[in-house]
Amino acid sequence: MIAPETDRVLITGAAGAVGTALRLGLRDRWRHLRLTDVRPVSDLAANEEQVVADIADRPALESMMRGVKAVVHLAGVVGTYTLEDLFRVNARGLFDVFEAARIAGVERIVFASSNHAFGCYPITEKVSPALPPRPDSLYGVFKVLGETMLQQYFDRYRMRSVSLRIGTFRAQPVDQRSLATWLSPADAAHLVDVSLSHPDPGCMVVNGYSNNSRLKTFDPNWATLGYRPKDNAEDHRERLRAEGIDVDAPDRGEWEWPEHGGSFVRLPERPVR
Ligand SMILES: NC(=O)c1ccc[n+]([C@@H]2O[C@H](COP(=O)([O-])OP(=O)(O)OC[C@H]3O[C@@H](n4cnc5c(N)ncnc54)[C@H](O)[C@@H]3O)[C@@H](O)[C@H]2O)c1
Repeated sequence: MIAPETDRVLITGAAGAVGTALRLGLRDRWRHLRLTDVRPVSDLAANEEQVVADIADRPALESMMRGVKAVVHLAGVVGTYTLEDLFRVNARGLFDVFEAARIAGVERIVFASSNHAFGCYPITEKVSPALPPRPDSLYGVFKVLGETMLQQYFDRYRMRSVSLRIGTFRAQPVDQRSLATWLSPADAAHLVDVSLSHPDPGCMVVNGYSNNSRLKTFDPNWATLGYRPKDNAEDHRERLRAEGIDVDAPDRGEWEWPEHGGSFVRLPERPVR
């Protein structure tokens, strides 16, 4: 059990988009937030402390785990990255964060996984986290690596975790696909809040979406966790339409994005050398 009033939570990647939303959404209830990122956070609140460090700095990781009860692991490369950075941050860095946490006796990890962990499923299949992963990219493969490590930590060490398969995290939905895959900032904070405070999530994998009318997934773990998203991407349909984005067809999914991973499934992988 992680207690918001007394227990310290470490957030990695805290200077990023999701991290910033979490700080705003969690800081009233979670009284002891330790933030880390390779970039500094400039607007620290009274109940926040920060450690500026690269994820590759294992001694720094070990030292920042002291007195920490739970870790929210967000740090990672996203979008444009080199293959070397992907390995260094999303594979080796992930390993070092999880290992430093385990050795320090951290009781819970909330991990930013991704919908790209199951992106190769056809969009016609209503995927739940109970199905085997089908990553659509090396980025997705390393998210599955994280989920798999956490399964091993649960089985061997009884460390509890929740892996969040985040869809499209944005302030607002941006295109037709994100009308199905959007995760709003408020719902993201709520999802992390319940993942931290649930008495015993075991080793759970959960979809990170808002309450979108066009959801192409289903997830019994939402009820188990007590996740009740409030935002619905459909409320942004008229704005998108006014911006010239065709959102009128009831379901263009099968030809526009035949798999859950959208464009990731079709993108060439980063060159290996
Ligand atoms: N944004 C989305 O739609 C989305 C969807 C699925 C999953 N996710 C995952 O959520 C997490 C956060 O995503 P985001 O959108 O906030 O990305 P972001 O790029 O805004 O934030 C990532 C943060 O990680 C930090 N970081 C990168 N390399 C680092 C290093 N070597 N050492 C320390 N810190 C480092 C960056 O400085 C950045 O602040 C990522 O793991 C991402 O894969 C995001």
